[in-house]
Amino acid sequence: MVEPLIRVRSLVKQFGPFTALNGIDLDIYRGEVHALLGDNGAGKSTLIRLLSGLYRPDGGQIFVEGKPMRFRSPRDASKAGIGTVYQELALNPLMSVTRNFFMGRELFWGTKPFGLLRMQEMDQITHEEMIKIGIDISDPRQAVGTMSGGQRQTLAIARAIYFGAKVLILDEPTSALGLKQQMEVLKTIVRVRGRGDIAIIFITHNELHSKLVADRYTFLALGEVIGGGLSEELAGEQVRHLMAGGVEMKDLVKELAAARNETFRHAS
Ligand SMILES: Nc1ncnc2c1ncn2[C@@H]1O[C@H](COP(=O)(O)OP(=O)(O)O)[C@@H](O)[C@H]1O
Ligand SMILES: [Mg+2]
Repeated sequence: MVEPLIRVRSLVKQFGPFTALNGIDLDIYRGEVHALLGDNGAGKSTLIRLLSGLYRPDGGQIFVEGKPMRFRSPRDASKAGIGTVYQELALNPLMSVTRNFFMGRELFWGTKPFGLLRMQEMDQITHEEMIKIGIDISDPRQAVGTMSGGQRQTLAIARAIYFGAKVLILDEPTSALGLKQQMEVLKTIVRVRGRGDIAIIFITHNELHSKLVADRYTFLALGEVIGGGLSEELAGEQVRHLMAGGVEMKDLVKELAAARNETFRHAS
């Protein structure tokens, strides 16, 4: 059997008396796009924060390549190869593409506080890495503010990969974008997947997007895994059912019909 890149077992996270994650099991494999789906409040962000070292678990364990991990900070998680691309992206729109690419990890001539930045070399690396991922920015010295939302997502992804991410966590990367930009990001995901060595955890609300790129699904509801599987095994109806937190579609239709009647009564 193939060893998963990330193995999560019985993971628990509590906020005071409230249990946000109640014993999560999850396997993430190299080269796969793993869609993490679930309604608001399901625990997706909490799970991601545990994986990226922002929170510490109250129970259970995270393994990376079979080794048990105890992340004390995001730096620990990133050293273990977990690269998280947040919705806010942590980019500075006023600074150049290159400066954002290297942010905090610049190349210097000489020793650091007095050294000179190796700008030409950094520009070249940034340009090459962006081309590898499918975006030919004409000038890496241009400000990030001139890039589209989709290109910015791609920049954050290219940066995480260049600095050693083995698993990329993308938290709702398409949700704030227009249709054309959403496609750009999905294309980036497909290109990264094509390398075969990197796992992608793709958090989304969008059933169509997950269908277009995911190899495997995990559904969360109220802090628990309620289902999952390979995308070719799951029928559209099942996906919709699990996305709704396991609620029957016909119950939702009934609820909506009841609401419609209510408004009608109020109006008349
Ligand atoms: N820092 C926190 N303190 C208290 N409760 C929290 C905190 N973070 C999340 N929660 C609660 O945990 C549950 C899961 O939240 P979250 O992980 O953000 O869900 P999702 O990302 O799936 O919408 C929610 O009920 C939320 O209110
Ligand atoms: Mg969230």
